[in-house]
Amino acid sequence: MSDLLPIVPASPDATSDAHCEDSPRPLPPRAKVDGPRGRYFIHTWGCQMNVHDSERMAGQLEHLGFGQADSEEDADIVLLNTCTVRETSAAKVYGKLGDLRRLKRANEKMVVGVCGCLAQQERDALFAKAPHLDLVIGPRAIPQLARHVESILETRQRVRDTAPWTETVGAGSEESLRQSFPKAFLTIQEGCDKFCTFCVVPFTRGREKCRPLDVLLAEIEGLADRGFREFEMLGQNVNCYRDDAGHDLADLLLRAADIRGVERLRFVTSHPRHLSDRIVAAMAHEKVARALHLPVQSGSDAVLARMERDYTRADYMARIARLKAMNPDIALQTDIIVGFPGETEDDFQATLSLLEEVAYEGVYSFKYSPRPYTKAAKSFEDDVPESVKADRLARLQAYQDQLQAPRDAARVGLVEEVLVDGMSKRSDAEVAGRTSRNRVVNFPGAPDLIGLLVPVRVTEARAHSFRGEIAGPTR
Ligand code: 5AD
Ligand code: SF4
Repeated sequence: MSDLLPIVPASPDATSDAHCEDSPRPLPPRAKVDGPRGRYFIHTWGCQMNVHDSERMAGQLEHLGFGQADSEEDADIVLLNTCTVRETSAAKVYGKLGDLRRLKRANEKMVVGVCGCLAQQERDALFAKAPHLDLVIGPRAIPQLARHVESILETRQRVRDTAPWTETVGAGSEESLRQSFPKAFLTIQEGCDKFCTFCVVPFTRGREKCRPLDVLLAEIEGLADRGFREFEMLGQNVNCYRDDAGHDLADLLLRAADIRGVERLRFVTSHPRHLSDRIVAAMAHEKVARALHLPVQSGSDAVLARMERDYTRADYMARIARLKAMNPDIALQTDIIVGFPGETEDDFQATLSLLEEVAYEGVYSFKYSPRPYTKAAKSFEDDVPESVKADRLARLQAYQDQLQAPRDAARVGLVEEVLVDGMSKRSDAEVAGRTSRNRVVNFPGAPDLIGLLVPVRVTEARAHSFRGEIAGPTR
């Protein structure tokens, strides 16, 4: 067993923002490479950083000689890249581990691994809970995946590698099997020092660590040469990016924007407290997307204080005002937690009024669930009943839909530049892509448009996307 550094005990109160989705996301289909040594399958839960970590893992496995399987039944190596940010995310991983126990009974040679945040959180306890596991590997140990897989295949001994801070963040990134052409994800910062009281991330992703600017620019240049046109900078606290030479996110955005072939830059996820004027000014650059994910979590100062978010509603609104002054058409998205300990109906009403005041283009909302190691789990009673949490979540989502529908309808007739990234889910005669404001648009077109920027006139606003038609020359 590779038993490296024990997890360094972090401060008892902790968190960050990371943009999450709960559904498992197998890597998207692509031309299958037949691997001489067998096939792998990766399940991915969680944020964009996890999606990119899976690309990094897939790249290493293909270098070892494994090809991508169509399903876990068909695979010799199955990896679960996990998220523990909410209870529901963790529960789904345990469900999948149960399925894999049956598969492994039928195929004893199968290598089963848990990677990412659950691995870091549970460490050896995972082997006890799932005796059929061969590999437990934390987020910072991803560059070691190939070595650990070789060792398991050779010795049939289990491996755990959950050393949180020994590796350089993003090492081996250039090996990634990139699956989101023409967009490339780039981890620029990992970990979080904010320690909001509800969040487990500082305990699973460790302290903040940044990659050097020159390394990142070189990687962007190489990817732009290969035809990638959009770059999404990833970090749990991405706007706290600062390398050892003192470069910040504004420097990175402006330098990256100068690279030939780079057309669009995004970054996720930002902490409102650290959205500096320099970053806001850099966002005025034409190549920086007109969209920002800025999690607020609550519109009530009392709740924000218990969350230890380090800003008030007025502070948050002041940043929104600066962003809108610089760029009136910016599309803002946010994350909201309902039912945080002590949240009253008045607190919740304050959150609803914030939705109206900010006029978000997208709201990701979650019921609070206590997470291991966090201050909220230790110090506050989870006192909002489940039925009240569910009711507030439903009311919040309905209110946001009601606010957003007329704003979306008002965009019909406008021409927006769409970067085409694939075929539409509904029709083989249509392609799909995103606007600079990060909204999906489907429109009639052939696969040769993938990777191109197309001016598209919006013809219809749907629940979560738009339809349109080509309105000018592509580039
Ligand atoms: N309970 C519910 N939601 C949470 N999030 C983070 N921790 C918790 C928790 N304990 C949400 C926050 C964060 C997003 C990624 O997940 O809204 O921004
Ligand atoms: Fe989930 Fe980990 Fe990403 Fe947080 S950092 S969203 S816990 S995968």
